[in-house]
Amino acid sequence: MPSAALISVASWLPEARLTNADLEQLVDTSDEWIRSRTGIAERRIAAPGDATSDLAARAGAIALDRAGVQPADVDLLIVATSTPDMVFPSTACLAQAKMGLTCPAYDLNAACTGFIYAIEMATAMIESGRARTIMVIGADVLSSIVDYTDRSTCILFGDGAGAVVLQASEEPGVLSVHLGADGTGADLLYVPAGGSAAPVTPENLAAGDTYLKMNGNEVFKFAVRAIPGVTKQALADSGLTTDDVDWLVPHQANQRITDTVAQRLGIAHERVVCRIEDIGNTSAASIPIALDSLYRDGRLRAGNILALVGFGAGLTYGAAIVRWTRED
Ligand code: UT7
Repeated sequence: MPSAALISVASWLPEARLTNADLEQLVDTSDEWIRSRTGIAERRIAAPGDATSDLAARAGAIALDRAGVQPADVDLLIVATSTPDMVFPSTACLAQAKMGLTCPAYDLNAACTGFIYAIEMATAMIESGRARTIMVIGADVLSSIVDYTDRSTCILFGDGAGAVVLQASEEPGVLSVHLGADGTGADLLYVPAGGSAAPVTPENLAAGDTYLKMNGNEVFKFAVRAIPGVTKQALADSGLTTDDVDWLVPHQANQRITDTVAQRLGIAHERVVCRIEDIGNTSAASIPIALDSLYRDGRLRAGNILALVGFGAGLTYGAAIVRWTRED
């Protein structure tokens, strides 16, 4: 059975920055509060007219180039997002056209865990022999659903995209993936209106119900409870322990969550990839963006064991244990 190896990673971030000083002008907050409670200093915001598929296609094109793969050789495109360009067609179809791909394409919504869920889908397709080369993109334009009058959420989120190309390989790549979901926590992080449960009306629009709502405290507690367990489970599935992890690449939601998770796993700070300070929480994009930072910094070595871990709305959570195989 072939393994699924990550043969490239890339990311794309918008130019525009929304700093803590900017947010001080919008809501009753302070740079000191935001930095100390979240670790965030600034976020990137998509340019007017740029949709999720635009960010996705730009990250995807770089990943394709770095992989040395021709568009015609991609067998499947999965875009993990919870801020699609529109209800349909899928953001994946729109990004597929922008990248000149010709393969099947679909969206996957597991919110901030979407990238890990998509890695699981891609790995299963490659291991089963149904596909040889798959592109997975995590992309979100959270600024399109953030209420910039709500200080408890608007300080967290930013826009961005990250992409990987997976390919069938004789060398072990994705070693194991462990996923979870608990739909009883759906109301802890959600967008009340705009779906079939509550189509947009003048009333719910005026009430701000088309914006993201979050019970931050409960999501925080869920994350620090669920993530260490699912990471250990995924490691155990590969016969590994936390001692084997070279890099913990967590979803970048809050530096305090990352620190608590790393501490509970017994993984030293130097082995944790932190990218939240200058990009905030980019949802499904945050893990591949962090992975790309590691790659571009030259810190990623062939043979390194990565624990990619995510959590988010759903509630969803998951961990993927990956052996990095690229030599440069
Ligand atoms: O991608 C996954 C999704 N999201 C997450 O992972 C988010 C998880 N949760 C969090 O990151 C944190 O819960 C937050 C950053 C959202 C909030 O931090 P917290 O330490 O849990 O604060 P809190 O909600 O307990 O609020 C403490 C105080 C409150 O004031 P009182 O009631 O103590 O007087 C809030 O009203 O801080 C106040 N507060 C703020 N103050 C200044 C809340 N937001 C702000 C703000 N600036 N932006």
